[in-house]
Amino acid sequence: EQIEKGGYDHFMLKEIYEQPNVIKDTYRGRLHANEGIIQMAGVEDNLEKFTNAERILIVACGTSWHAGLVAEYIFEEFTRIPVEVEYASEFRYRNPIINKGDVLIAISQSGETADTLAAIKLAKEKGAFVFGVCNVVGSSISRESHAGAYTHAGPEIGVASTKAFTTQITVLTMIALRLAKAKGTLSNSDFHRYLQELEVIPEKVADALLTNDVSKEIAAKFKDAPNCLYLGRGYNFPVALEGALKLKEISYIHAEGYPAAEMKHGPIALIDESMPVVVIAPKQGHYDKVVSNIQEIKSRNGKIIAIVTKGDIQVRGLADFVIEVPDTTEALTPLLTTIPLQLLSYHIAVMRGCNVDQPRNLAKSVTVE
Ligand code: G6P
Repeated sequence: EQIEKGGYDHFMLKEIYEQPNVIKDTYRGRLHANEGIIQMAGVEDNLEKFTNAERILIVACGTSWHAGLVAEYIFEEFTRIPVEVEYASEFRYRNPIINKGDVLIAISQSGETADTLAAIKLAKEKGAFVFGVCNVVGSSISRESHAGAYTHAGPEIGVASTKAFTTQITVLTMIALRLAKAKGTLSNSDFHRYLQELEVIPEKVADALLTNDVSKEIAAKFKDAPNCLYLGRGYNFPVALEGALKLKEISYIHAEGYPAAEMKHGPIALIDESMPVVVIAPKQGHYDKVVSNIQEIKSRNGKIIAIVTKGDIQVRGLADFVIEVPDTTEALTPLLTTIPLQLLSYHIAVMRGCNVDQPRNLAKSVTVE
């Protein structure tokens, strides 16, 4: 087992560090930025089904559901196809409206999650075209889908998902870009810019991993906190959910992710000097709005840990701690902002003496309801 961990203390840490390489594996042979080409067999063979779709449904559970939420923002922005994301467990039991011609994307690392599998069987019965985004080759969901794309992240052993999440986002971004090209919903220059940015993302993820030391220092300060709040907007709202989930799963600290603007509708009541608030505040998107959210937290003495774009001065002046990630185009920021959140929860869990790779009560793959 020590050999399999490749010198890391835990599988989770190894898998966090694998991300630059596995993201490259995910797009290798599919993304050709210089030629302006994105090619994925499962998408090419069914291009019309995607481009004619009146809407795309995404079903998944856990971390994969969070990747689905990121994809919702990306698909709607790039392709203008309406997207609905749903927990597979809710979808399957509520007699959902599924029309012939709907495209349903099922996202699953293991490809074995019972609720997701049941959701795709239901969608197939009702005439939807089912596309699987799985990591495990030959898994039940990949076999049950009409077509699909593998994430090629390699085996993920840590129960808390890390590299599966970023590679799922990579695959889904490529699908959205391919459809945008077919539908003409992105300008040529934007299309090429996204391709170039995606190609250099692995180096930027490697750069984001350099925040390990500062993440560890911050972890030491907050390891005994009973609660933690995560806030983000737009593309980084699902990252806030995922950050909170990572902390809950492995450190057993109660954590909640919220869209930053919703803070005033409830969570703000919880903020006092003992409440750590992780705010995802890259300089793109709704930066100014997030800065005012940070000011609101500060005026209530909350402890602010901000994830910012390199070189940010404004938030640095307000936050108690900052973690800097490289700049990229807004839609790709989740691939970078999520890295320090993984590291933060990892270090907190280790410092609390938790079983990082096999947290209590959780399973890597949930094959029962
Ligand atoms: C379990 C795992 C999570 C995972 C979820 C969905 O709860 O502990 O890490 O995100 O199942 O799994 P899937 O294999 O379908 O992505």
